[in-house]
Amino acid sequence: MANVDSREAHVEIDSVRLGFGERDVFEDLSCRFARARITVLMGGSGTGKSTVLRMIAGLQRPDSGRVVVAGEDVAALSERGLQRVRRRLGMLFQDGALLDSMTVLENVGLPLREHTKLGEAEIRDAVHERLAAVGLHDVDELLPGELSGGMLRRVALARAIIMDPEIVLCDEPFSGLDPPNVERIEALFRELCHDRGLTLIVTSHHMASSLRMSDQIVLLQHGRAVLGDPGELATSGDADITDFLGADGAALARQIAREGHR
Ligand SMILES: Nc1ncnc2c1ncn2[C@@H]1O[C@H](COP(=O)(O)OP(=O)(O)OP(=O)(O)O)[C@@H](O)[C@H]1O
Ligand SMILES: [Mg+2]
Repeated sequence: MANVDSREAHVEIDSVRLGFGERDVFEDLSCRFARARITVLMGGSGTGKSTVLRMIAGLQRPDSGRVVVAGEDVAALSERGLQRVRRRLGMLFQDGALLDSMTVLENVGLPLREHTKLGEAEIRDAVHERLAAVGLHDVDELLPGELSGGMLRRVALARAIIMDPEIVLCDEPFSGLDPPNVERIEALFRELCHDRGLTLIVTSHHMASSLRMSDQIVLLQHGRAVLGDPGELATSGDADITDFLGADGAALARQIAREGHR
């Protein structure tokens, strides 16, 4: 699947082996994530999607192999080196919830307060800019408990981009959202990618939205990865891919490919 290889990889996983106890999650995993593109990591439950994100963030080391993030092999870095790389990453993890006792303004501004010397006025401006980017206004003083599920996800996304990361990792950003909110987050991802040149790596179970918004899909199955854009997956002829897409997924992928993929 040539078009992926021709793009510059911002993150590259190379010959990774990882097991927990007796169980091998990855025997020999290799895949690439293109710069300034949206890649959706798909695969059944337990295939290792969250684990891939954790490896990219340097939160989980592989037993062997390389995990190259913006030119640095995080699998081989010291804790200090990891901190340097993590500053280039934004993370939206499912359990990375907002702090309940802090307002939206305080939650989104927290990384700036912790890692920079910016003053309160500058922090407020930066928070407002990110909140506007995710379509939120006049929510500074609200507490997380006062927000809907879709708003919570958008506030968490605003926090994930507050430090101007190059790469944003999102674990299951659509879970529990209704269709309008799924589409809103999808549109936001496209804007972040196109307007800010962010590299987005997103895990999702949500077939239709994954096919619609991705430039590239990485499908995890049986400890290996298959890469392609929706059209390539639909026409791959690989039995594992056909099984995973199902008839509806394959039809949608073909339709997206026909309509010209973005
Ligand atoms: N810290 C850990 N210790 C032991 N096993 C682990 C650990 N982290 C992940 N695993 C195992 O690795 C496998 C992959 O887990 P992972 O959470 O990455 O899957 P996933 O594709 O994200 O699944 P889901 O779709 O359910 O979120 C699972 O079998 C899980 O039990
Ligand atoms: Mg997971």
